[in-house]
Amino acid sequence: KRVAVMISGRGSNLSALISATMAAGYPCRIVGVISDKPDAAGLKLAQDYGIETHVLDRRDYTSREAHEDAVHAALETVKPDIVCLAGYMRLLSGAFVGKWLGSMINIHPSLLPSFRGLDTHERVLAHQVRLHGCSVHFVTEGMDEGPLIAQAAVPVLPGDDAETLAARVLKAEHNLYPSALRLVAEGKVRITTTGKVLLDAFP
Ligand code: GRF
Repeated sequence: KRVAVMISGRGSNLSALISATMAAGYPCRIVGVISDKPDAAGLKLAQDYGIETHVLDRRDYTSREAHEDAVHAALETVKPDIVCLAGYMRLLSGAFVGKWLGSMINIHPSLLPSFRGLDTHERVLAHQVRLHGCSVHFVTEGMDEGPLIAQAAVPVLPGDDAETLAARVLKAEHNLYPSALRLVAEGKVRITTTGKVLLDAFP
């Protein structure tokens, strides 16, 4: 399967996906990377691997709709079967998401439906929850709201601060995202017309 990855920054999940897809027998390859930030570190990484990159800077467009149209056009040139959001820090409209429903997935650094949105690690610490983690889900219009595909939990340990916790979660993300992408690519997980996720043979 052809996979496009959308980023805004560092690209450590992109890096984990690239490594995973290079392993023998992995059913996907990353064929394009799209960024809304010209200075995203992940762009350089993609270029180092010879992956096609597209930068669509929001500041170059007069409206969100015009920007999304440009992102959609870039995706159409990449022709992905699956789109992975990996630290893409922009909310996508229902119109855009509707075009990729069932084939666009996102990773979020919390055990959804808890802690949607930004600053999850800080909020986890403030709430003193003992279990944290990450989730991969199909993308729908609501922020971090789509049907869940896979999750991984990590403990919150005494003495943790947002950084140590983020690092532990990030490590889990780097394992989870490739395995969740594989499930989608192999058709073992798919979204139904009622918006529920169907898990065939969940490992
Ligand atoms: C990750 O924590 C991801 O879950 C969130 O944004 C961060 C992106 O990090 N959506 P990176 O760019 O993949 O390193």
